[in-house]
Amino acid sequence: MEKYVIHGGSALTGEVSVSGAKNAAVAILPATILAGGKCVIENLPSISDVYTSVHILREMGAEIRMLDRSTVEIDTTHITTEVVPEELSRQMRASYYFLGALLGRFREASVAMPGGCDLGPRPIDQHLKAFTSIGAVDSMEKGMIQVSAPKLTGSHVFFDTVSVGATINAMLASVMAEGTTVLENVAKEPHIVDVANFLNTLGADVRGAGTDVIKIRGAASMHGGNYTIIPDQIEAGSYMAAATITGGDVLVKNIIPKHLEPITAKLERAGASIEEFDEAVRITRSGPLQATNIKTMPHPGFPTDMQPMMTVLLSLAQGTSIITEGIWENRFRYVDELLRMGANIQVDGRVAVVEGVGELQGAPVRASDLRAGCALVIAALSANGVTEVEEVSHIERGYESIVEKFANLGADIHRGGKPSSTLQPAF
Ligand code: EPZ
Repeated sequence: MEKYVIHGGSALTGEVSVSGAKNAAVAILPATILAGGKCVIENLPSISDVYTSVHILREMGAEIRMLDRSTVEIDTTHITTEVVPEELSRQMRASYYFLGALLGRFREASVAMPGGCDLGPRPIDQHLKAFTSIGAVDSMEKGMIQVSAPKLTGSHVFFDTVSVGATINAMLASVMAEGTTVLENVAKEPHIVDVANFLNTLGADVRGAGTDVIKIRGAASMHGGNYTIIPDQIEAGSYMAAATITGGDVLVKNIIPKHLEPITAKLERAGASIEEFDEAVRITRSGPLQATNIKTMPHPGFPTDMQPMMTVLLSLAQGTSIITEGIWENRFRYVDELLRMGANIQVDGRVAVVEGVGELQGAPVRASDLRAGCALVIAALSANGVTEVEEVSHIERGYESIVEKFANLGADIHRGGKPSSTLQPAF
């Protein structure tokens, strides 16, 4: 099994360029099905969740051409099936976006109940609520979810929970419904706006993305188009946290500073100095890390996907921080690994009480999910001695070239163990 071997203690310095947003990419790739034509997608991150999505499209009959490392041409004219290959769809949570895209184009879809990070129960009732509101019926057979509709008709959907996935899936399914669909109590994350912009490039009429209400006027048909994915705010935040915890001086490039505001505000409270440019931020720190409280919430609140990295940072801060997880039921599993590195954290359900300690010690640790894995890497960079992070395939689902990017910033990090097969592009 592949692992990362990290000798901690170096302050990170230099520049790092952020890749395209994973959570936009894994929705935009299935959304190309709606085009029924040729799309060119730029700023695609080289991560295993993207390889899996592209692999699914190819298996379903799309023609795929890599134009360069981060640009792919996808022609979905000849997609021949509305069934997503079961084995591939189980590999990642976001395969549920194939449901909305296939339903939108073919009026039927079949996808395996999705896998992905284990953060507690991950229902999709709100996705199905949106599909049924516009005229679909759903059923479950042998672990496959099926949705079908003789006809899709615009409707009014009020979501019971603010859900990123349900908001995007509802947009995908309704862009070609007859009439107008109104989605209320929707998610407002930057990747919601990115997917809406992509759909509009293909001829859809989606308005209001980024606010609480999205209105979609159904288009009779859609077409291909070119699109550039936004930078990944969580990858950016991860490097910002790493720069802060190691007391470094790092320029994080290819970002949209506005998307980072909730993260920037908390890092500043914790002791970072952040200078903003048009498409970059520079992070330094002069004083000690300071305790602060965090509650994760839907955008524009503090993002749950940054919670593990902030817990690591605050484990070295002066004082006591209280971290409340407002989105997922079980997102503190990595804390046991941090305790092995000398952190002082008590978890009670969705709340972690973090007492800052003077230092962390290197130890063998295991990544339990994508962001937890990145958090352990950041802990290792700041720790005394050597840390070996195992099960790094979780990390490489969402972070492009993380070892190389940290090494370029002066970190002592290299791969060890047997290379993992998930790192190979599937196209
Ligand atoms: C997306 O997951 C992200 N994944 C997650 O990022 C992220 O943590 C999450 O949004 C919240 O920001 C992708 O975009 C692929 P939700 P998603 O639906 O869409 C409840 C990462 O590390 N809910 O917004 O699955 C749900 O249980 C990953 O990159 C329902 O009750 O999350 C949760 O408590 C991990 N019914 C809350 O809503 C539903 O039908 C928010 O979930 C759907 C969700």
